[in-house]
Amino acid sequence: MPGPGMEMIGEEEKKALLEVIESGYIYRYGDPKDPRFKRKVWQFEQDFMKYSGAKYAVAVNSGTSALMAGLWALGVGPGDEVIVPGYTFVASMSAIIYARAIPILAEIDESLTLDPADVKKKITPRTKAIMQVHMLGNPGWISEIQKIAKEKNIYFIEDACQAMGATYKGRPVGTYGDFGAFSFNVYKTITGGDGGMLITDKEDTYKRAFAVHDQGHLPLRQGVEQGNRTVLGVDFRMTEFTGAVLGAQLKKMPTIIQKMKDNKKRLKSIISNIKDITFRKLPDPDGETGSLLTFIMPTVESAAKLGKKLGCGVVAQSGWHVYNNMEHLLGKMTVTKEGCPFTCPYYKGGEVKYTKGMLPRTDDILKRAINISIGVVDAGLGSSFGVNVKSTLQEVDEVGKKLRAAIIECLK
Ligand SMILES: Cc1ncc(COP(=O)(O)O)c(C=O)c1O
Repeated sequence: MPGPGMEMIGEEEKKALLEVIESGYIYRYGDPKDPRFKRKVWQFEQDFMKYSGAKYAVAVNSGTSALMAGLWALGVGPGDEVIVPGYTFVASMSAIIYARAIPILAEIDESLTLDPADVKKKITPRTKAIMQVHMLGNPGWISEIQKIAKEKNIYFIEDACQAMGATYKGRPVGTYGDFGAFSFNVYKTITGGDGGMLITDKEDTYKRAFAVHDQGHLPLRQGVEQGNRTVLGVDFRMTEFTGAVLGAQLKKMPTIIQKMKDNKKRLKSIISNIKDITFRKLPDPDGETGSLLTFIMPTVESAAKLGKKLGCGVVAQSGWHVYNNMEHLLGKMTVTKEGCPFTCPYYKGGEVKYTKGMLPRTDDILKRAINISIGVVDAGLGSSFGVNVKSTLQEVDEVGKKLRAAIIECLK
């Protein structure tokens, strides 16, 4: 099964879904005076605000929608550059491109998240925002990236789609940026099949994001609408079914994270004294969700051998999570000022090209990195080998033994 949330679907989700069916209200809006209307989406937003500490939350139909609504709400648009890591799911780039802005790819470091030093080098007078991506259940270098954004007076955006439940310096990720985006697809910490959330502390960003996600309406469609809508929105709304499942899943999150952390600690301890492998750097080791264990082999050759032996490949091969594998961004979708389907005609920065090998440090790290599943079994992420959230410690030990033997053999 793909992710930990999906693995934990059970009676609670069933009950919540039945409540929606029996209520007759399957859409986020209904008659507030009717006791049958359970307001599942609204309730999930309230619960999410309580969990995260954010002042505002907008539930949407996917993580991609959360990123798009947030970018549009901030006014990121034609001609703007947004710095984004070359290692992230393609949706981070798509959201920027659909805002008619230009993704500027930056290097990662051994944390497998944005390298602050390279971000600094990529800033130009056209930079409007930095999108930090908390990859593989771990926060990135939040303080460092936030500091750069503050100094340059640009937006700081957190793509926390892979890190629901992670914290940084004791605070949930997603609460540091101008907005934070979360995904609830089937590979994520909690899931509703699909779904997303945008959080922010800024009222105007909230109002605009809400309007974008719901055809230009004011929050909860309260107050004057017709004749006074200033935002041309779309429909990214979450249904009551999704809200119901996610409400039940959110309650399970502490158990999910504890289990992943315990299993990860155990698995890591089995391989931790192997000389020559290094573990991914963790900007806040206490704040991880524990969904994956990532380590770096000393050479590209030994990593390739190990990836083949385990059947999961190296991280560089992981689907649309690596810029080198985004064929729709490379070549066919080369952004030039002359134009292509998503080109911004207002762009003043000359030609921007995305080419294989343009981020050598990212390439080197990812060619030597191996992702082991602790709770996210996803071939597209290079984590088809490992355990899942329901694995017992005995099962973890067995997988750990196999992994240890394989690493040692491939280091010979
Ligand atoms: C880093 C990252 N950003 C954005 C997304 C998009 O989320 P969704 O699939 O819910 O649209 C994902 C989903 O995998 C992701 O991993």
